[in-house]
Parts: sequence; structure tokens; C-alpha cells
Amino acid sequence: MVTITQSVPMVEPAPEREVSAVPTVPQVPALTESQIAQFKRDGFLVLPGALDAELCRRARDDMWEAIGTYLPRMKRGDPSTWTPITDEETTAFPVAYHGGQPYFGGGGTRYYVRNGTKDFMLDLGPRALWTVAEQLLGKGTVVWPAGRDESGSTTGPCLMSDESMEVLYGQDLDTWPSLPTFQTQTLRLPQQGLELLTGQGTRGLYCTLPNSPDPGPNWRGAHSDGSSYGRFRLNFAAYIDDLPPASGGFTVWPGSHTRIWEHHWKTFHAGETHVGRRHNARKLGGHGRLADPIVEAVKADTEAVDTYGPTGSVVLWHHKILHVPGQNTSNDVIRQATIYGFMKSPESLSDEMAMTDAGGDIWRDWSDEVREIDEGA
Ligand SMILES: [Fe+2]
Repeated sequence: MVTITQSVPMVEPAPEREVSAVPTVPQVPALTESQIAQFKRDGFLVLPGALDAELCRRARDDMWEAIGTYLPRMKRGDPSTWTPITDEETTAFPVAYHGGQPYFGGGGTRYYVRNGTKDFMLDLGPRALWTVAEQLLGKGTVVWPAGRDESGSTTGPCLMSDESMEVLYGQDLDTWPSLPTFQTQTLRLPQQGLELLTGQGTRGLYCTLPNSPDPGPNWRGAHSDGSSYGRFRLNFAAYIDDLPPASGGFTVWPGSHTRIWEHHWKTFHAGETHVGRRHNARKLGGHGRLADPIVEAVKADTEAVDTYGPTGSVVLWHHKILHVPGQNTSNDVIRQATIYGFMKSPESLSDEMAMTDAGGDIWRDWSDEVREIDEGA
């Protein structure tokens, strides 16, 4: 049994709760053999216009409602008002209570809305993609996005790794040197924004305003999400509005998933945890993100790909792929994406297996169907 001594009332006993893992929303069709082969080879796959247009409209309405509350000088239908968020505006956004994340936040040309546990947001994305998620990760092996209960809390499993603890407590792990247990615990989270750790909500909406800055020749901000260990395997970014090319789409480096996966496991086996790497970088005088040799190698020899598409387009991506929110070069388009990570359930993947790559390659925890398809098909 894991005991959390943090004073913030964030982790509560999980109540018994009936949740259905049978989606009631129309399903995005299962992938074809060639789509799976493409996903395995490239580490991502675009499904143009796959999601429900009406739910996308609802998500856009919800976003503009939040803007009306928190940034009312921005007007729907008037792109001349979609200018960068000033430092004064950033500091004026209300802070979150009880350790969660603010409902609305951002700065410069980026902002987010933490509406990811609303039922329509779950219906729009993860529940509509449930058939695809189970096809890729294995039937009965994926954590169902149940969302909020009557009290407004979410309940789901979390592997209490160093990176999870960083998100939970929103601060440097030096303060909590003994907390990561690398065991799965059921968390009941009353706050918004943290349910990305338990598969119970999408990350809400991640948006990029027009005329965002050039990331530069070395692609400032390009990264691979989190650690190689853990329960996340399959992620998606989905656009709730039409997104033309070069308008801030999720930008990826094809094939980087396998290289980064293998490299990160190698460094982990050499004694380096995900958060430990960043701590070392800080000690050396760097900041947050350490220049990772494998990431630099990928950027040097692989062309980045911008993804885009009509309303409801989905980008499926392997958890370890190198990515960055692209530059929005448009004058009148806001990049509006919702992002979610499907998790392998504790019943299907033990903590021991989640903390090792033994017994298989990058596709070890994926379905038989995925494992059997030849990437060159
Ligand atoms: Fe990311």
C-alpha cells in the first residue's frame, strides 16, 4: 500500500463505481492493414475529418465561451483581435485552487482550456476512437475514459513515477525525494488538468494564435513526451476546426518513435530516470530541457512533417514520437487541438512490465494484430 504524505487533499480513496467501457457514441472505423503498417513505420497516422462535426462545433463554442470569460478582448469572427496574449493578461488569469491547473491559461501565441473532462469532450475524442484504441492496444487492455462522477471528481489508475509526481505536485521533485514509488495507485482527483495522468480526461484544448513565432532552425520546443516507461502508448491530437497547412498543426518526425524508444530505454537501464535527466541538466546550468543526443540526431537527418486537415481530423501518434506544435503562419486561423493519451490498464500490464522493455520490442504491449502486420506492407 502506498502512503502519500502530501498535505494537499489531492489523492482520495477511490469509491466503488460502475463504469461502462462500452462507448455509446458512433465509432471511428477500425484501421486497415495498410494504415496500421503506416502507423508502425512512421509513428503517426492522420485520419482526415474522422470526428463528429457537431461535437467539434460544441467544443469550439465551449472554447469561445471560455475566451469570453477570461480574454474578452478576443472576438469570435474578428481575426484582427486574435493577437498575442500579453504578460499582463497572463498574470491576470485566475489561478487554480487545490493544486490543479487553471481552467484557462497561456501566454504569447499559445493558450489552453482545461475542459477535457466534460462528457462531450470525451465523446468527441477518446470515446469515439475507442474501437481504434482497442484494435491497436488490445481488446480489454485500455483504461476507459469515464470522466467525472456526480461529485465532479475523476478516478483512475496512475503509475506513480517521477514524471507523474512532477505533474501531480507541479514542482521540482527535489522537494519530494522519496515519493515516486513506480507503483500504480488509484487516484481520485477533484482538480482539473491532472486527469491526463489517469486517462480520465483529455488535456482540453491546446491552441495557437495566428502569426506564431518561428521555432528556429533547431526547432525550439521539439520533444518526446515523458518517459519510455509507464502506461501510455497511443496518443492523439484532434482538430476541432478546419486546419490548413502551416497553421500550427502537430508537427512530427516520422520514424523517431522507435529510435527514441530504444535510446531512452538504454539510458534508463544505465540508471537515468526521466526526471533525473532534467535535474542533471539544471545542475549543469541548463534549464528544463536537456539537449537529448537522440533528439538532435533525429532533427539532423529527418524532415519534420506538418499535419493538418478539415474539422475533426485526428493525428494518431506513438507516445514516444518527436513532436512540436508547429508554427502558425496564417493570419486568420487559430490552431485548436485536443490531445489525449490512451493508457494500458494495470490488469493488462503489470507495474513490473510497465517499468521494463524486456520480452519484446516497441510493439510488445500492442495488439496481436499490430504486432503481426509488417511495417513494409
Ligand atoms: Fe508533447
